[in-house]
Amino acid sequence: MEREDVQIVLHPDELPRKWYNILPDLPEPLPRPKDPEMGPSRVELLPKMMVKKCLEQEFSEQRWIKIPDEIIDLYIQAGRPRLLYRAKRLEKALKPPENKIKLYYKREDLSPTGSHKVNTALAQVFYAANEGYDTVCTETGAGQWGSALAYAASLMNLKSVVFWVRFTYNWKPGRRTLMKLYGAEVYPSPSNITETGREILKKNPDHPGSLGIAVSEGLEFALTHENAVYCLGSVLNHVLLHQTIIGLEARKQFELIDEYPDVMISCLGGGSNFGGFVLPFIGEILRGEISKDIKFIAAQTQAAPSLVGGEYRYDFADHAEKTPMLKMYTLGHKKEMPTVYAEGLRYHAAAPIISLLRHKGIIDAVAYPIDERHVFERARLFIKSEGFLPAPESAYSIACAIDEALKAKKTMKKRS
Ligand SMILES: Cc1ncc(COP(=O)(O)O)c(C=O)c1O
Repeated sequence: MEREDVQIVLHPDELPRKWYNILPDLPEPLPRPKDPEMGPSRVELLPKMMVKKCLEQEFSEQRWIKIPDEIIDLYIQAGRPRLLYRAKRLEKALKPPENKIKLYYKREDLSPTGSHKVNTALAQVFYAANEGYDTVCTETGAGQWGSALAYAASLMNLKSVVFWVRFTYNWKPGRRTLMKLYGAEVYPSPSNITETGREILKKNPDHPGSLGIAVSEGLEFALTHENAVYCLGSVLNHVLLHQTIIGLEARKQFELIDEYPDVMISCLGGGSNFGGFVLPFIGEILRGEISKDIKFIAAQTQAAPSLVGGEYRYDFADHAEKTPMLKMYTLGHKKEMPTVYAEGLRYHAAAPIISLLRHKGIIDAVAYPIDERHVFERARLFIKSEGFLPAPESAYSIACAIDEALKAKKTMKKRS
C-alpha cells in the first residue's frame, strides 16, 4: 500500500497572490454600517481612526484583491504557506471505519506569535506605515491579536499600544513579555489610560474587562493621539479578506491530494479564522463551481453564543458605542459575559459577513458549555495522539471536529 502523506506542503512559489473577497458573491448585498439615530456620526469618524487602505478594502466589490509583493515577502518571512496536516494518529484513536473518516488540520499555530492573527496584522501595519502613521493601537482578548500586531509593528518600525482584557492579562504573563519584547506598550483593560476605562473602573475597580471594552479603549486612544491609527483583529470585512489566505492555501492543498472536504470546522469569536478558512470554499459553492453539500460549522462558547443565541440586528461593535452600528448576530454590546479560558471567543457579536451567511442558512454553529470540560477533554485526546498543544480557542475547533467524526462514525455503523 502506498504511504499517504501526513503533511501536505506548498512551496512559497505556490502561495496565493490574491485575497478572496466574498462581497460580490454573497446571496444578497451585505447591509452597510450605519449611524445610530442619536449622537454624532460614527461613520464619518472612521477615516480618522482607521487605515484608509483597509477602509477601501472594507467596501470593495472586487472579487480578487492583489496582495502587494511586500506583504507576500512578509508572509513568506512569517513562514507561509502553512502546512495542512492529516490527523492520522487522532483518526486511529477514534477508531473510524477503515479509511472512511479523514481528519485534517491547518497549522496556523506555526506563525511567529502562534496564531492566524499575523495574516491581517502584517497587512494592516504595512498599509498603516505606508500612510505615514507612527503608532498602531488595538484591543486584544486572548493576547494573540495583540502579540501579532506588536510583532508586525516591530518588523515595520512602528510603535504599538495594546489594551488587553484584564482577566487574560493577569493569567498570561509570558505573552505580555512577548508583546513587550516586540516593543509594545500593554495596558490591562479597563485601564486608567482612557475615559472609557476610567468610567468602568469607577463603578467596578475589579472589572475583568471584555473585548467590547478593549475595542472602545483602542479607538479612543487613536482618536486622541495624532499619528496613531486603530487596527481591529476580527469582525470587519477587510480582516476576513486578509485571512482568506488560509482557505486559499487549504484549497490548493486539498487539490494536491485530490480531496474536497465534507465538513469544515473552526472556532468563532468575531469570525476571522472561521471566515478566512471557509469563505474561499463557500464562494465556490455560491458561484456554482462546486455542487457538493458541505457543512460549515462555527464552534463557540455558551459564554458568548452570538450565532446560536443572538439576534440578527444592527448593534455597536464596542462597549462605549464609538463604532458605527453593524448588522450582525449579537447578544447586545453591553452584555456581561462570564469569563472562560478561550477568551478570544468571548465577544458579543459575529462578523457581518458570517452573520449574513448564518442568516441565509449557509453555516451552522454550536456553542459549548461554559465549564469547558468537554472541549478540553477532547483537546487532551488531540494532544495525546497528535502531540501539538492547541490554543484554548483552537481546542473548540478540535472538540467540534471530534464530535462530528464520532457522529459520522455512528451513522456509518447504522448503514452497514
Ligand atoms: C487562537 C485564536 N483562535 C481564534 C480566535 C477567535 O477570533 P476570531 O473569531 O476572530 O478568529 C482567537 C482570538 O483571540 C484566537 O486567539
